[in-house]
Amino acid sequence: MQQLTRDVVIVGAGAAGLTAANELRKAGLSVVVLEARDRVGGRLWTDVVDGAMLEIGGQWVSPDQEALKETISELGLETYSRYREGDSVYIGRDGALRRFTGEIFPVAPETEREIVRLIEKLDEMVAQIDPDKPWEHPDAEQLDRISFEAWLEEQTPDQEARDNIALFIAGAMLTKPAYAFSALQALLMAASAGSFTHLVDADYILDERVVGGLQQVPLLLAERLGDDVLLGQPVNEVHWSDDGVRIVTDADLEVRARFVVLAHAPILYPWIEFQPALPRLKQQMHQHISMGFVIKVHAVYDRPFWRDQGLSGTAFSPYELSHEAYDNTNHGDERGTLVGFVSDRNADDLFRVSPEERKARILESLSHYYGPEALNPIVYFESDWGAEEWTRGAYAASFDLGGLTRYGADLRTPVGPIHFACSDMAGAGYQHVDGAIRMGRLVAANILDGARS
Ligand code: FDA
Repeated sequence: MQQLTRDVVIVGAGAAGLTAANELRKAGLSVVVLEARDRVGGRLWTDVVDGAMLEIGGQWVSPDQEALKETISELGLETYSRYREGDSVYIGRDGALRRFTGEIFPVAPETEREIVRLIEKLDEMVAQIDPDKPWEHPDAEQLDRISFEAWLEEQTPDQEARDNIALFIAGAMLTKPAYAFSALQALLMAASAGSFTHLVDADYILDERVVGGLQQVPLLLAERLGDDVLLGQPVNEVHWSDDGVRIVTDADLEVRARFVVLAHAPILYPWIEFQPALPRLKQQMHQHISMGFVIKVHAVYDRPFWRDQGLSGTAFSPYELSHEAYDNTNHGDERGTLVGFVSDRNADDLFRVSPEERKARILESLSHYYGPEALNPIVYFESDWGAEEWTRGAYAASFDLGGLTRYGADLRTPVGPIHFACSDMAGAGYQHVDGAIRMGRLVAANILDGARS
């Protein structure tokens, strides 16, 4: 068995782990990053599929994501805007396709009034939430006991208004049905992005991309660490005491260190054997966190044909299989790429049918937005993170009903020398790369504090 000794061992070479490793190294500690996969980046992954460069995982950057933006600029990466010229399209409850500009969908005037009223109400509530401590909101207990769907039912009898407001958090963010998470969890999601209005505004939340793909962030962070990033090292044992840790991987490597950072999705902790076991509260907590589920669909065409029709490519409908879709053409590419998303129960249903049927149904849904040309892409690919052993869902993890107030405050608390960092436990930037970087920085600061004392 190969043996190493370091000040800190980091499990996971995603944005969180690599940020933590770089910060710790800068402060003079020795580190090693152990990554299960044969690549770095975790949920950031740019690959070439049938000749098309695709961002299989995370890709967009929004203006509030200061930690990510700082990292992008510090690494010298270039960004570009998402294509947004022309009309967006919306398919309503009546099945009719309508063009629109701006943020509010083209719905009946009374539904529009309800949507606007709900957005204002949610913005007010979100302003009272500290995304780092949503459980401290005076009504936190109550808001965490009611599902977002039930809360919306209390607010308005207008079904289409409810379906649209639910979509922004459920299908589009947590990727779970709105009855499966609490109103407090919904407020946290919005607070982590600054406001509910930000989530509604696609031009804000899906503002920019990185030329060459967002995976360059972890790739460049890993490059700085050189030989201290080891691939193909799934960690399966963590032995710990007040004196430090001994980590064992599936590839016969043992690392002794003063601290370990588990920098991966919290739903994966139960796959690791802890000796001694983690405290019972943590073990209970981990059973109340689960991943959302979404299929990111990439369809590449020989040209961005929708632009000829004056369409921006931005499309929404709570009633379509692909509830949202965008022009995702790469910087400087003559071909046109559409990206669509199929979330939660719709995604479950699609994995009950054959791959051919799945593809046909998804393209059919895209054709409802863009016309029959959408049926025949030259490259087609589905990002299926549910099948990824070292992620097991997408985009990220969230608590079940009541979990946030019951366990949230303890989510990031270290256990002896074991520290936790991941986008899935961030306040600001929650579920996003920005949150991963913030958590990487925070865990490094906490370890440096501990190392000094
Ligand atoms: P991440 O999961 O990336 O990294 C954890 C690492 O740990 C992985 O490399 C994994 O292999 C490794 N690992 C796990 N268990 C291990 C073990 N036992 N031993 C060793 N290694 C282990 N965000 C955004 O900002 N903008 C966006 O547009 C999107 N869109 C988006 C689309 C899709 C399809 C996905 C899946 C995700 C997004 N996201 C996103 C979310 C974003 O990608 C995500 O929040 C962060 O990349 C997560 O970074 P972390 O470092 O926290 O975890």
